Formats: sequence, structure tokens, C-alpha cells
Amino acid sequence: MKTIALIAQKGGVGKTTIAVNLAVAAGMRTALFDLDQQESAVIWADRRKDYVPHVEFLTERRLSEALKAAEAEDFDLSIIDTPPSAGPQAYSAAQAADLILIPCRPSLIDLDAIRRTSQLVKSAGVSAFVVFNAAPHSATTLLDDARAIVEGTGLSTAPVVLRERGAYRSAWPVGKAVVESDPKGKAAQEIAQLKDWVFEQLQMCTTARVHIHGVDSNG
Ligand SMILES: Nc1ncnc2c1ncn2[C@@H]1O[C@H](COP(=O)(O)OP(=O)(O)O)[C@@H](O)[C@H]1O
Ligand SMILES: [Mg+2]
Repeated sequence: MKTIALIAQKGGVGKTTIAVNLAVAAGMRTALFDLDQQESAVIWADRRKDYVPHVEFLTERRLSEALKAAEAEDFDLSIIDTPPSAGPQAYSAAQAADLILIPCRPSLIDLDAIRRTSQLVKSAGVSAFVVFNAAPHSATTLLDDARAIVEGTGLSTAPVVLRERGAYRSAWPVGKAVVESDPKGKAAQEIAQLKDWVFEQLQMCTTARVHIHGVDSNG
């Protein structure tokens, strides 16, 4: 099982949006652990008439136990959503992760907040990437400048950028992911690209795992 943590000290940057959309797009046994007391991911899950993906609120104290249980129950992927602070939830999530994604809107106010998040993730010594989210459609220069600022903090940026799209907001209140509410739409396409890139980072591929499971079950 691989573990991804969504961490950013700023609120409203897309941690939960990316967590739920990746959890559905992953298309494998995925558990989403919500460490944010606001329980946004749990509320989203309650609106779904579906137990997939598995979504659960946890305090950080129970995180390592929950990850071990998920692995024992044959989950392939765990995603950890965290509150907007550099508190114990973000630290525990960073320590437990194989990959950290740091959502960030490409605006100066959000980029200023990246510096503190970068200190937190560097102390965990885990591979971490800033994911630009809700980027305006004509934001090429803005994105180039944002990339330069992020790289100046010593962090890397993900090559996939998520744009500002109504599809993310309209899927939310009905407990859907964009790959479900508008599977052919641009939001679904960019989430699929993000998922493919994330899996590459985790050196994880659905077909390879199915094959491995097949070999295991044949002894
Ligand atoms: N790419 C996007 N395009 C449009 N709206 C977005 C996008 N990403 C997030 N949002 C909206 O921004 C708000 C904050 O997102 P959320 O995921 O709750 O942030 P966080 O978990 O970091 O606080 C939500 O209303 C969400 O629907
Ligand atoms: Mg959130």
C-alpha cells in the first residue's frame, strides 16, 4: 500500500478537493483518512450513496494504526487529508506518507504561505511536490513566476496543473468526483493526468498490481 498526504498551511487551496478526486480516480482499493476536524471529506462521503472510496475521520494519534489496518485489509492506496495548519495532523501525515502533495493557488498570498509548508515537509524527508490548483485559464506567465518562487524555496512542482473549473465546485455538494459527474470534461482529464503522474511517482501501476495479485493467488 502507498500513502499520499495532502498538506498546505493555507485553507481553501484544494487539499480536500484533490484528496476526494484522486481517491475516486485511483480506481483501486483506496482509503481516505480525514485528519481535519471540519470533516469536509467525511461530509462529502456521506452524500455519496456508495461506500467506495472508504472515508474516515481520524485524530493523528490513530493514524499509524489506521494505516496498518488498511494495509492488512488489502487497501492499495491511502490518502490523508489534513487541516490548514502546521499542527500535529500535518506532521503525522507527512511522516506517514510516501508522497506529499502541496496544493497551492498561483497567487502571491498563497505562495507566501508555501515557505512554512516547505519547512514542514522538508523535515519529514519525503518526496514532496507543489500542485498548482485553480489556476486561471490565461495564466501562463503567472504560472512561470509561481514555479520560480516555489523552486526558490527548494520544493519541486508537479507538471500537471489543475485549472479553475466549475466542475470541481458542482461535483462537491452531490458527493461526486469530477470523473463521475462529467467524465469527458476537462476537469476529469486533468485529474486523470494528475493520477497518472502521481502513480508514476509512487512507481505504482494498476495493471502491474493486478498481475502481482494474480501471481500471489496462484501461489
Ligand atoms: N480547481 C478548482 N476550480 C474551482 N474551484 C475549486 C478548485 N479547487 C478547489 N475549488 C473550490 O475551492 C474551495 C476550497 O477547496 P478545498 O478543497 O475545500 O480546500 P482546502 O481543503 O485546502 O481548504 C471549495 O469551494 C472548492 O470547491
Ligand atoms: Mg480541506
